[in-house]
Amino acid sequence: MSTVLVTGAAGFIGSNFVRLLRRQRADVNVVALDALTYAGNLANLADCCDGPHYRFVRADICDSKAIEPVFAAGVDWVVNFAAESHVDRSIHGARAFVQTNVGGVQVLLDLAREHDVKRFVQVSTDEVYGSLGATGSFSESTPIAPNSPYSASKASADLLVQSYFHTFGLATIITRCSNNYGSHQFPEKLIPLFVTNLVEGRKVPLYGDGLNVRDWIHVDDHCEAILAVLDGAAPGSVYNIGGNCELRNIEIARRILSHLGHDESMIEYVKDRPGHDRRYAMDIRRIGDELGWRPRIGFDRGIVETIDWYVNNEAWWRSIKTGDYLKYYEKQYGAGGVVGSDP
Ligand code: NAD
Ligand code: DAU
Repeated sequence: MSTVLVTGAAGFIGSNFVRLLRRQRADVNVVALDALTYAGNLANLADCCDGPHYRFVRADICDSKAIEPVFAAGVDWVVNFAAESHVDRSIHGARAFVQTNVGGVQVLLDLAREHDVKRFVQVSTDEVYGSLGATGSFSESTPIAPNSPYSASKASADLLVQSYFHTFGLATIITRCSNNYGSHQFPEKLIPLFVTNLVEGRKVPLYGDGLNVRDWIHVDDHCEAILAVLDGAAPGSVYNIGGNCELRNIEIARRILSHLGHDESMIEYVKDRPGHDRRYAMDIRRIGDELGWRPRIGFDRGIVETIDWYVNNEAWWRSIKTGDYLKYYEKQYGAGGVVGSDP
């Protein structure tokens, strides 16, 4: 039986990936690893953490000594989601971003090499390509030109990953995906923040003129794409992943307002994010042509289901907004519940 190590498994995309794996791959052992920073939440894994083929390990990917036994026990594939992921936090303080997103990846790469891991998937982002004008899109050969401390740390990791392929022959694959939406996303990100604010009767803060463009993909489509990559990608390759769904932030705000029965008076235009990338757009032909993957969930359906998920799972996000989920870890695992979030 093969073993897949999923790092960052208690976060938004990692937990959705574990859920998909457990649904679709009964023949795979899953080791879910997470440091449980402010963004990690064991409640995200509550419905997929049972049985003899699942194990959770609380560890920091920067801590080689803590992670080594996991590799020594046998790991065939690594899918690395672990990261500091929020651009605004990286502007307030970049240290944790460099530590985890670069240093942590180096630790994982060395252990993967020493323990003969067969595939190492680094989950990267479209933000490594920088910002676009009104036209054009990013392809896998677009030079990387990151603009925020977050995207600079992810781009650095991509370079390190490529170097382990070229120098050591480690079977690495890099995926670069656009903006995900769906269940279990930490309510600091645009969509869950706006939905939960409105449920609380608060306004939604729209940065700048609200005309920045992002490409949106449902998290389940992203996770399916990673499975396709794990199964079929050639070592050393890079794949763009996206939803073919470019939208301005104001349009996202309007969809949420309208579904929840509010008008635009609930929008508060606030100071722009420093260095705010204007537009991202993805050319996803390579993964379609080579691996046969395409996004399946249309935004019209996906956004409504997503808004409804947050409305129906108020206890989940309320415990995050009050910080109660972190108190639980302190009881369960001792002090140190919040790591990686200091500026
Ligand atoms: P998230 O912030 O929801 O989850 C990150 C997880 O990593 C958390 O559970 C956190 O506890 C864990 N983590 C952080 N530092 C760690 C460390 N040192 N050791 C072990 N675990 C640690 O992020 P997400 O949105 O799920 O993103 C997951 C990955 O996907 C990231 O690498 C991100 O760069 C990438 N990505 C995200 C998006 C998106 O739209 N959210 C799009 C493209 C790529
Ligand atoms: O593109 C992929 C990236 O998408 C991932 O690599 C990141 O991990 C993920 O956080 C996300 O980054 P963004 O910065 O695009 O996501 P965020 O939800 O923070 O913001 C989306 C857009 O909405 C962006 O243009 C900024 C704007 N925004 C965001 C927030 C939180 C607002 O206008 N108001 C807000 O309160």
